[in-house]
Amino acid sequence: MESKKLILGLVAGLLFGIHAMAGEDAPAPMIINIADRSSVSLDGQWKYLVDQYGIGYYNYRLMPQPDKDSFFADKSFDDDRTKLIEYSFDRGGEMRVPGDWNTQYEKLYYYEGKVWYRTKFDAAPSPEKRYFLYFGAVNHTAIVGLNGNKIARHEGGFTPFNVEVTGRLKEKDNSLVVLVDNTRDKDGIPTNNCDWWNYGGITRSVKLVEVPGTFIRDYAVLMDKAVVGKVRKNKPAKHRIYGYVNLDGSAAAGQEVSISVPELKLSVKAVADDNGHAVFESVAAPQLWSPDSPKLYDVEISSAQDKTRDKVGFRIIETAGDKILLNGKEIFLRGISVHEESTTPVGRITSASQNRELLDYAKELGCNFVRLAHYPHNEDIVRQAEEMGLLVWSEIPVYWTISWNNPDTYANARQQLEEMVTRDINRANIIIWSVANETPISPERTRFLAGLISRAREMDSTRLVSAAMEKVAVSKNHYTVDDPLLEYTDLISFNQYTGWYGSKSEQCDNTYWEFPVLKPVFISEFGAGALYGNHGPKTERFTEEYMADCYERNIRMMVERMPGFAGTSPWILKDFRSPRRALNGIQDDYNRKGVLSEDGHRKQAWYVLRDWYMDLKARNNE
Ligand code: GCU
Repeated sequence: MESKKLILGLVAGLLFGIHAMAGEDAPAPMIINIADRSSVSLDGQWKYLVDQYGIGYYNYRLMPQPDKDSFFADKSFDDDRTKLIEYSFDRGGEMRVPGDWNTQYEKLYYYEGKVWYRTKFDAAPSPEKRYFLYFGAVNHTAIVGLNGNKIARHEGGFTPFNVEVTGRLKEKDNSLVVLVDNTRDKDGIPTNNCDWWNYGGITRSVKLVEVPGTFIRDYAVLMDKAVVGKVRKNKPAKHRIYGYVNLDGSAAAGQEVSISVPELKLSVKAVADDNGHAVFESVAAPQLWSPDSPKLYDVEISSAQDKTRDKVGFRIIETAGDKILLNGKEIFLRGISVHEESTTPVGRITSASQNRELLDYAKELGCNFVRLAHYPHNEDIVRQAEEMGLLVWSEIPVYWTISWNNPDTYANARQQLEEMVTRDINRANIIIWSVANETPISPERTRFLAGLISRAREMDSTRLVSAAMEKVAVSKNHYTVDDPLLEYTDLISFNQYTGWYGSKSEQCDNTYWEFPVLKPVFISEFGAGALYGNHGPKTERFTEEYMADCYERNIRMMVERMPGFAGTSPWILKDFRSPRRALNGIQDDYNRKGVLSEDGHRKQAWYVLRDWYMDLKARNNE
């Protein structure tokens, strides 16, 4: 009897296992420019249930349960108290979407694990339309269920995804249940070791998106750097304007699409191939986008059943020797690094005004550049930066000690890279895609990153591609970057903490640099920590005086003794939460390298950086 039960149990486990995977397919291909689509917001107060042991997903043998027995069924004890139903979303607490759970409830401040979210919504589906659930981001893994059935799974805490729900919607009370899990995973992207707070939750907006049966899913409108024809005095030069449009739907093949930029008198048509992919090219003479003149053009893309409008800028970013050229002119990147964390309250950013606050600080510093670290930030901050004339470094969280030999880890990193590029390929202000931060050198790591760099270039040949590498000592006071990745990157971009990690500030005064290749040198991080309001001798760590002195000496060192120095994004705009910062009374869960305190107070180092940038700006007549 026992062996028969065992075999039955194994077969059931296999079936359930297969069954469980069935509802966890990858999301649909990404729809871009969501803000321009017809949609209903599902933001607001959702019900939530904390589920440390995954009881809403697994049975007591840790096998995935059928949907009907899982929390995706969205039943309630109060439906029928004669039955044993040991959960009820209606009896759950309220959780704001978008938003991290850590800062909504004291009991969830340190929580890492599973949390169930549930909202209900009405719909009025039209038979000729298609419907998608759009999530701006869910950290870190999401399993989405609608009306009792699991329908998709997404991994990656900082990129959008959308799930098709055409034919699954009811007029009333659609039950949307999302299982969110922010448990760190050594094989994940990021891995289980990073210097920022693991804010869990549905951290960006959720929408129900309505599109025609065959619709414009994604597109790119780009400009070739080569000039076409003669350059006319005091007139913008002509360039090839080219790109693609991807249609999605049964009528996509052979369908005609139109791309127009009225202000440029550009109007071109193209025909989609059997995969719905249409490529186009034309010629125009756009006013080029730049920090001083962030010119954007209205672009309209239309097909038989669909039309979408976007604002696109045109610019050329390239390197020449150890110079970075924007629109053919040398540019020095006056940057600052930024985490996606608001000031008041301190938590994952959830609004346009919080984005704007960080970008206004960057402008006040005299920046023309922001490094949005260490993961793709929300789409709005990129678009606002584009309107404000702030160049952007955008990166995926391939951070520190990644599982380089794990094919699933590589596939995850590649997926997040593709999502980042697909979403933002039309943002003129993004000039650098970064594939990694401070990763230990090994043949496996270099192969992993070279693959990502190649994929980035395959998707987009109009931007620089790099990574934040690390310095190495050649001898005492003599440093370089000796990294095989330099063969693949457009920049010698690296983090260096002279004066903070492993040395005192005066070390800057007799440190000099040389580099093995002739490429622009970009210091993607430098800095020191200080608690705002903590004053003392500049030899004492965590005083504002120490931090300001360290900034002064680093700036002098980079300007005077760093050949090819083409810009920097000091670490970091504002103090931010990190589980690695435990010094009571000074850090208290905060990394204190911000030139601003966590709630926006300016430290002495703020003024050191601002004065340097403002002087550079004045000398460049900007
Ligand atoms: C590293 C890392 C950052 C980190 C910083 C620090 O360079 O890239 O994410 O916060 O150092 O130690 O403060």
